[in-house]
Amino acid sequence: MKQPLVEAMERYLQEQVYPLHTPGHKGGRGMAEPLRSLLGPAALRMDVSLMSELDDIHAPSGCIKAAQEEAARLYGSDACFMAVNGTTGAIHAMLMTALRPGDKVLIPRNAHRSVMGGLILADATPVYVQPAFIKEIGLQGQVTPEQVEEAFAQHSDLKAVLLTSPNYFGMAADVKKIAEIAHAHDAALLVDEAHGPHLGFHKSFPPSAMQCGADMAAQSTHKILGALTQSSLLQVKGTRIDLQHAADVMSLITTTSPNYLLMGSLDAARAQLAERGTSMMEDALRAARLLRSELEKMQGLKVIGPEDIVGKYGIASMDITKVAINLRDWSISGVKAAEALRRDKIAVELVDPQNVLFLVTYADWAPVQWQETVTRICRSLRKLAPANNPLEARSAWKVREEELKNSEKAEALQMEIPVTETAASLRTVFYGKKKTLPLTEAAGCICAEAISFYPPGIPVILPGERVTEEIIHWCAVMKKQGLPVSGPADVTLRTVRVLDE
Ligand SMILES: Cc1ncc(COP(=O)(O)O)c(C=O)c1O
Repeated sequence: MKQPLVEAMERYLQEQVYPLHTPGHKGGRGMAEPLRSLLGPAALRMDVSLMSELDDIHAPSGCIKAAQEEAARLYGSDACFMAVNGTTGAIHAMLMTALRPGDKVLIPRNAHRSVMGGLILADATPVYVQPAFIKEIGLQGQVTPEQVEEAFAQHSDLKAVLLTSPNYFGMAADVKKIAEIAHAHDAALLVDEAHGPHLGFHKSFPPSAMQCGADMAAQSTHKILGALTQSSLLQVKGTRIDLQHAADVMSLITTTSPNYLLMGSLDAARAQLAERGTSMMEDALRAARLLRSELEKMQGLKVIGPEDIVGKYGIASMDITKVAINLRDWSISGVKAAEALRRDKIAVELVDPQNVLFLVTYADWAPVQWQETVTRICRSLRKLAPANNPLEARSAWKVREEELKNSEKAEALQMEIPVTETAASLRTVFYGKKKTLPLTEAAGCICAEAISFYPPGIPVILPGERVTEEIIHWCAVMKKQGLPVSGPADVTLRTVRVLDE
């Protein structure tokens, strides 16, 4: 399988040219120990610089162009760009390409922080939609086609729709239907496909954004496939997006010294997928199914599967290689369970108060070793099962949950996040002067930070929205329940940063 960029790097190294150029460590000669030994001479020699033989990411005409074209062919896009600042960079580029300053874009309220960054850079106006909250497992579902229709009914001037699909937990939206709705309104569909660079390579996975008709998709090749951390791809398809403008934006936000190890790893990961994508995905599915079936044997442990969520909460299909367990019935928090697993030398992808997420890929599948790993995971978890774990040793989560249940008002408040009003653009807030105030005195001010509680994990307020008495009260009730806060500089929420108008 052709790897145009990797092959050009190899050819360059074989020539053994003396480097009177960057990088300053000169093929590892000057790299400090112990990193020098840790990386090894081969990796350090591969850390090559911009050479005419190695093309130019800002005006590709040689091996980078060929590598990007191979990737576009594989994913069925019209153009593909290597993104060496991860999917964060690719998302910034999607928003900056598809939108002009002031343009409206539909955004799920729980979008990744890179989306907020992209909105600031693009000076775009978000129209937020709340994905459904799945009460039983404390997770959010997906944006529904109906919500998208409704948003267009209220904002006929929406220029784009952004989806996060699949989400971290493998839940995919009805991307095809939403693409049709967006296009019927002459708007572009941008997909944060950070968790889906492997979609489209096996029928058991949800279809990919490109297959569903999206105009752009940002994919974390490094999260699920064989690329090095930080290496992502941006796919563009169709006539709604100006390809030259996309190239200009990518060039604007990309370093003039892109790391060839990162770019080479994207070329290699693409070649691997092109050569044996289906069998890689079969390996991933085998590994995930084995882990799921062993976890499912543990009484009271909920292994979140398609039967729980697909066809509901806006979820059209699920990638089962995201293996999430819900520990609610074990009265232990996801955080505590992950700590226990880590003590047993197992590190997981993500935790929240109720759930632990195991990320499984094709690389896990080696029948004997994987079976051993699965056994270790189950042995470690079994120690946390209620029978082996007296109530007093368990987390306060269940107790808090009981309290929450007992307080009708608190529960009502938890489910109904207060309605917010946007008073300033994200960009105005970002560049504006800020001050810190006690939260209890902030009513009427424009908030300068995002505040979320877990669950539900959906921000109760975002930068640019006005703080109200209702929001302050909601925060106080959530705080009293002891739910973890994320977003603000002061996570105790005694104070909040607001715009100093
Ligand atoms: C949904 C989502 N989008 C975007 C990103 C950003 O990706 P990257 O880390 O490649 O910049 C992440 C990272 O976790 C993510 O979960």
